[in-house]
Amino acid sequence: MMPDMEERIRSLTEHTYGTWKAQKDWKRPLYIKDAEGVYMYDENDRPILDFSSQLMCSNLGHKNKVIIEAIVKQAEKMPYIAPAFATEALLSATEALVSVMPKGLDKFFFSTAGTEANEGALMMVRQYMSPNYKIISRYHSYHGGTIAGLSFTGDPRRWYAERARFTVEGVRFAPDAYCYRCPFGLKYGECGIQCAEYVDYMIKEEGNVAAIIIEPVVGTNGRIVPPPEYLPRLRQICDENGVLLVCDEVMTGWYRTGPLFAIQHWDVMPDIMTTAKGCTNAYTPVGITITSKKIADFFEEETLIQGHTYAFHPLALSAIAPSISELQKLNATGLPQRVSKYLEKKLYELEDRHECIGDVRGLGHFWALEIVKNRKTKEQFNIKADKFRKPLMTDKIAGEAMKLGMYIVSWWDTLIVAPPLITTEEQVDEGIAVLDKALLVADQEVEHTDSAGSRTSAVFKK
Ligand SMILES: Cc1ncc(COP(=O)(O)O)c(C=O)c1O
Repeated sequence: MMPDMEERIRSLTEHTYGTWKAQKDWKRPLYIKDAEGVYMYDENDRPILDFSSQLMCSNLGHKNKVIIEAIVKQAEKMPYIAPAFATEALLSATEALVSVMPKGLDKFFFSTAGTEANEGALMMVRQYMSPNYKIISRYHSYHGGTIAGLSFTGDPRRWYAERARFTVEGVRFAPDAYCYRCPFGLKYGECGIQCAEYVDYMIKEEGNVAAIIIEPVVGTNGRIVPPPEYLPRLRQICDENGVLLVCDEVMTGWYRTGPLFAIQHWDVMPDIMTTAKGCTNAYTPVGITITSKKIADFFEEETLIQGHTYAFHPLALSAIAPSISELQKLNATGLPQRVSKYLEKKLYELEDRHECIGDVRGLGHFWALEIVKNRKTKEQFNIKADKFRKPLMTDKIAGEAMKLGMYIVSWWDTLIVAPPLITTEEQVDEGIAVLDKALLVADQEVEHTDSAGSRTSAVFKK
């Protein structure tokens, strides 16, 4: 790297805040010079395989030409106009969405982030359900980085928000549909899906519940695939109790788990869906709050208390229609379907070779490797409270992977395997080879047992 670049980066970190970290850890971010396909390139032109699609958002990989062209055209034609006007960008984005959305989920509010899409959903819920206002979320969840988003987030980031007293009132947390570590200590097949039944109990005991918000497959907090009965039963519980079901498909949407949206695995219709990330391949910032007809009808007379300068932003929206057509074209080749099966098989084989892998679970191109110290007891290297406080084993593994030329996102207990949908079998092999080496740092510290790892996703397929 050029010496003056070192100085510029030093100056950069002096003058900017790094996200989600104590600022002493924002001193030398890796400089990325370029990115194309499934690779990014560092300052020395070293290719780095992207095994997490950045933040599980660039589903079509880097530098998709069709999307870029559409954004450039829009920038030349009309980069901004206020949200009150109809534009070609808004028309084409809306038409493209209507053409793919599940029937009955087809009225949109366009904002600029997944967090905003969820805040928008919360505001609609509270207007629609007034005077009921309570929101049930789950402990293993992330719904956004603002005051409202963090309020109904279960992960450790909420703890910090609560301490700083900036959460909203009226959120309750339900147990997770997390079979590998069942919160009820039960086993799938004999459990009566207590994780869903308990929500019914909560709604009845809490009173004033307006909605439950869930990620159909939990994203950052574990790629937790629920048992097959869970989501249909949750829908039923919502209907029986007159509570809205909000599905956050910010990360799981846009073919990440196989179908267009994760809820389609279980044929469940939410009252409100939120999405972002893959709807523009993350090339432009868009969040979408999507409602069913009953919500849409309500706002015919009621004032929708939402809007901001960048709502319906034409430059941002210009990436939606080409992203959808590019995703459909890719799906028609059969590559993502074939490679997701290959990836699943390779991850199970990886588990056979590495004692530090406690559980392998996921769907499509969305997988978790849960890292444990002891397979038998499922003891972890780090607990949830270690996040932001202690060095984490998962970060150590991801750091090793980066040294070996692969980017993979880590959370406090898992690695997030979520390559772009354009990834080939050869590139999966490349990623698995890196993981084979990187996981050794954890293998060296495991307590040996003769127990096998778990494959919760495979259990549900039987
Ligand atoms: C499930 C889920 N919801 C909401 C968000 C927030 O989206 P954004 O970061 O675009 O605000 C995320 C981000 O990762 C997410 O995974």
